Amino acid sequence: MREGRPSITATWVAAWRGLATYAPSPIARDAVAEQLIPTPYAQIVAAARKNPRAIALVHALADRVSLGRSRHLALRTRAIDEAVDGEMAGGTRQLVLVGAGLCARAYRLPSLRDSVVYEVDHPSTQGYKRSRAEALTPLARRVHHVPSDFERDDLTARLAEAGHDARQRTVFICEGVTMYLSRAGVEQTLRGVREAAAPGSVLLMTYFERAGSPFARTLTAVLRGVSEPVMSAFSATEIGARLDAHDFDVVTDEGDPEWSPRWVGERQPWSLERLVAARRRR
Ligand SMILES: C[S@@+](CC[C@H](N)C(=O)[O-])C[C@H]1O[C@@H](n2cnc3c(N)ncnc32)[C@H](O)[C@@H]1O
Repeated sequence: MREGRPSITATWVAAWRGLATYAPSPIARDAVAEQLIPTPYAQIVAAARKNPRAIALVHALADRVSLGRSRHLALRTRAIDEAVDGEMAGGTRQLVLVGAGLCARAYRLPSLRDSVVYEVDHPSTQGYKRSRAEALTPLARRVHHVPSDFERDDLTARLAEAGHDARQRTVFICEGVTMYLSRAGVEQTLRGVREAAAPGSVLLMTYFERAGSPFARTLTAVLRGVSEPVMSAFSATEIGARLDAHDFDVVTDEGDPEWSPRWVGERQPWSLERLVAARRRR
C-alpha cells in the first residue's frame, strides 16, 4: 500500500469484474464496478458494455493467452456471491468485507436487503471508495465504512465501534487481501475475525498458494512493480491449521480446477489463488 493513495490492485480487480460482466456468457456480473473505478478504467468498461463483439474478442484472446487463467476473478466472484446468498438465505444478517477495496456487493446483491454491511479497508483506499460510493444507493439495509490498517489496528475494536454485533452470526469476506499482508498481519486479522465472529459465522478467505510457475512469478513481479508486493502465501494444510487455531473449521477449499468444470464446463488444471470457506466452531 502507498500511504494516501488507493490500492491499484483494488482498481484492477474491480475493472476486470466490470469487463467480465460483458463477456458472452458471463460467469459473474458486476454492473456497478463501472461506477466505482477511476475514469480511464470506467471508460474502458463502458466501451465493453457498448461493444459486445469487441469484448467477446478480448475475452477469447485473454482466455487463449492465459490458458484460461483470465477467468479466475469471475470464478472467484461467483463462488463468493453464491456463498453469501446461501448464508443470507440461512438467516445471517451481517456482512463484513475485510479489505473491501472497490467491492460492490453491498450495491448489487439483492440477498443483502435485510443485512448490514461493514466495509473495512485501509484508510488510503477507503477514502477513494467513499467518494465514489456516495452517488450509489445500496441494496443492503445499511453500509458502514470502517477504516483499519490490518497490520496495526484492532479489527474487533474497530468493528464494535462501528456497531457490529459480535453476538450475531456474520459472514466475513477476505477476498484478495491476505497476499498483501505480512504473516503477522494475516495472524492479527484472523485474531480480529475470530473475536468478532459468533459461533456459526462464516469466513470466506482467499490465499495465494506457494507456487513457482512462470505465471506466478510474472504476476509477483508486476505486483511488486506497483508497490503491492506479495507478502504471504500458504499451502492448503497451512491455511487449514491457521484457521483451526482460530476456532474455524474448514468446510471447502476450492479454486479454478474445481470451479471451471462447474461453471464453464472446461477442465482448468492451474490455480494460484484459492478460496477457503470456514465456519466458526460452537
Ligand atoms: C486486491 S484488493 C482486493 C479488494 C477487494 N476485496 C476485491 O476483491 O475487490 C486488496 C485490498 O486490500 C487492502 N489492503 C492491503 N493492505 C492492507 C492493510 N494493511 N490494511 C487494510 N487493508 C489493506 C487494500 O486497500 C485493497 O482494498
